[in-house]
Amino acid sequence: VVDRREEGEVLRAERLVAGGVALARRDDGQVVLVDGALPGELVRVAPPAVRKGAQRAIVLEVLEGSPDRRQPHCRHVADGCGGCDLPGVDGGALVEAKVGIVRDALRRLGHVVDPRVVAAPPLPDHGFRTTLRLAVVDGRAGLRALRSHDVVGVEGCEVAHPSLVELIAEGRFGAASEVMLRVGGATGERMALVTPSADEVELPDDVVVVGADELAAGRRAWIHDEVADRRWRISAGSFFQSRIDGAAALVAVVRGCVDDHLATSPVPDEVTLLDAYCGVGLFAGALVAGRTGWRGVAVERSRSSVADARHNLADLPVRVVRAPVERFGAPRADVVVADPARAGLGRAGVAVVVATRASQVVLVSCDAAAAGRDAALLVAEGYAPTVSTVVDLFPHTHHVEVVTSFVRADDPSARSPSPSRHP
Ligand SMILES: C[S@@+](CC[C@H](N)C(=O)[O-])C[C@H]1O[C@@H](n2cnc3c(N)ncnc32)[C@H](O)[C@@H]1O
Repeated sequence: VVDRREEGEVLRAERLVAGGVALARRDDGQVVLVDGALPGELVRVAPPAVRKGAQRAIVLEVLEGSPDRRQPHCRHVADGCGGCDLPGVDGGALVEAKVGIVRDALRRLGHVVDPRVVAAPPLPDHGFRTTLRLAVVDGRAGLRALRSHDVVGVEGCEVAHPSLVELIAEGRFGAASEVMLRVGGATGERMALVTPSADEVELPDDVVVVGADELAAGRRAWIHDEVADRRWRISAGSFFQSRIDGAAALVAVVRGCVDDHLATSPVPDEVTLLDAYCGVGLFAGALVAGRTGWRGVAVERSRSSVADARHNLADLPVRVVRAPVERFGAPRADVVVADPARAGLGRAGVAVVVATRASQVVLVSCDAAAAGRDAALLVAEGYAPTVSTVVDLFPHTHHVEVVTSFVRADDPSARSPSPSRHP
């Protein structure tokens, strides 16, 4: 709010909002979304331009820095690497900001009056990524620069699992344009999915190498990992969480929501779980295994993930259905776990969830705004949010992952919100 000069404009950042940008206001109240500023900072920004309906600007100079600024965690930030889009921010402050972003989304988009949002215990912020997507230029893997398609060559990556760092540094990827590297955090098995083709790729012998063209022609290739005391087959074309400690943390939070709900609600002898957007079967496997009287239906549209889920859940009473959720005839269920892609459930997904008449819906959202929009739709259908837990799978970035438990408003537990696992 402070000053406008020819070389830009001087603004005071208020708080981080969705997308990791800082909200600032001019004297007349007009909002400018600032890339690269932290809450409380006084910054000089380039002349703002309208993008996606909002005035947006990039920081040119930090005039008064935040005490939450830190030395960036990785030397490649100085080279322009944009793999981590919020480097140099205190980890605890960033998680607090994400909690605030989720609370704001639930209030503004979800119309939830006083949303309860907590943070799960922090996860390691180095060496954690077991899946990494990289660009390839001249046969070498690199990461995109911030807000650009340019590729920055990297010798390593502080957030990558150590056994992927070796592949980044030493791998040669022929004429490829992209590579997805994956390691089983518990098994050490490694894989490279190379686009468009794996011709002339040079990687250590243990790495399962497959081209996108071979996958399209029907080749199957996979590795295994272990999460929640189960072994998971994960194919090259299947989604899996980008870190296994994060997958375990999500399972723990989802289980906690379900257990809290069952503790305050009449428990039927037979419980049917719907795992919507099940991927390779993570939540159905983790929740149904070892629970007497539980059975499940898991739905997923990717052929590769469905094949993995059928393999991974073969020992459990879980039926895996290949279908888009929105075209799936919902069965009656007691509990729904829904973990949709970034766009969220939307009207069509919510209609399916609601048709199950489940007394609890646990929504796993990888976008705060989607969490807010889906909350509004579920509330309109008679579900009440009890608690949202932010699980920070993506330190040094704006990305948000949040688990929200909803219970049917006519369920006894809706009147006595369950205690938080992580107060
Ligand atoms: C965020 S992932 C979650 C997967 C799984 N729950 C896990 O944690 O590993 C979302 C999954 O939804 C699937 N998907 C996306 N859109 C879908 C749709 N419309 N219907 C069914 N599955 C869909 C994707 O293939 C992906 O496996």
